[in-house]
Amino acid sequence: MYSRIAGTGRYLPEKVLTNFDLEKMVDTSDQWIRERSGIERRHIAAEGETTCDLCEAAARQALEAANLTPADIDMIVVGTTTPDQVFPNVACLLQERLGNRGVPAIGLEAACSGFIYGMSVADKFIRTGAAKKVLVIGAETLSRFIDWTDRSTCVLFGDGAGAVVLEAAESEGILSTHIHADGYYKDLLYFPSGVSKGFDDLKSGRDFVQMKGNEVFKVAVNTLGRIATETLEANNISQEDIDWLIPHQANIRIIEATARKLKMPMERVILTVQDHGNTSSASVPMALDTAVRDGRIKRGDLILLEAFGGGFTWGSALIRY
Ligand code: COA
Repeated sequence: MYSRIAGTGRYLPEKVLTNFDLEKMVDTSDQWIRERSGIERRHIAAEGETTCDLCEAAARQALEAANLTPADIDMIVVGTTTPDQVFPNVACLLQERLGNRGVPAIGLEAACSGFIYGMSVADKFIRTGAAKKVLVIGAETLSRFIDWTDRSTCVLFGDGAGAVVLEAAESEGILSTHIHADGYYKDLLYFPSGVSKGFDDLKSGRDFVQMKGNEVFKVAVNTLGRIATETLEANNISQEDIDWLIPHQANIRIIEATARKLKMPMERVILTVQDHGNTSSASVPMALDTAVRDGRIKRGDLILLEAFGGGFTWGSALIRY
């Protein structure tokens, strides 16, 4: 038994913030941002627009693409690090809107790897027969916890959501998933406060995302190279067998370095970072949906998805689309 992708969807908030807009907010330039990150614009959630709103729009698109209704879904997994509330989790909030009461709703926090972690969990449920049709979503409103006066971080991130419907199938779909974490790196990329620590700072809005960009860069490139090798070896295939690489869309230089290590020409790499910046857990499913809808990815193609994020967490999925 496999889990195969039955449909994909994505949603980006209406408001666009370009590099030129940022030039008016902090001491930066369009040229610096494009050269160092590949980003040209990012989308920002409207006031009052929540992560669950983004999830719902992406989920409804994925359901439509799969020709299914919410009632067909028997499990929901949402990877996010920017939930609407501490609880109920975003998957529960989404379930209430979709109306499929009673199905399990899992909120999963693994920073930028949240979607790949979610795929891995959903795949296990489907393979064991515990679920048949699962909505897996990565969604973020990162703009809410960015310091818009800090040029070293604010130029990099954006909001968005991507969704897939996974369904049980006898023909090939997800061939393998691989997930890892190393908390040793917890101080390189983090948000300082939460509920049981620094709650007053959280409430007063004093805390923002912190990142040692240079160090994150080096570990990300090495780690993403290793997970690609691990995935190829586990499936006994070579990089030439892969039709498309869909990397986490954090930074074009990380993506290019990973592609070089894999000896993948950039024509076989799906690149969307220019259009929305780093949207954390939403980036991989949004890139997947983009390439499915524009016709590049076709049924039968072999796709390698991979992500890396705060924790550090990282993971991959090899999929026969
Ligand atoms: N505009 C203009 N200058 C900026 C700037 C900005 N937005 N942000 C930083 N700078 C300046 C720095 O102050 C520094 O100036 P100095 O040399 O006078 O001190 C200079 O640019 C170089 O800074 P540095 O941090 O060394 O740049 P970099 O080449 O490492 O690029 C990142 C910075 C953040 C783009 C890069 O480190 C990176 O991509 N890291 C990975 C981040 C990431 O993807 N994180 C998420 C992983 S999930």
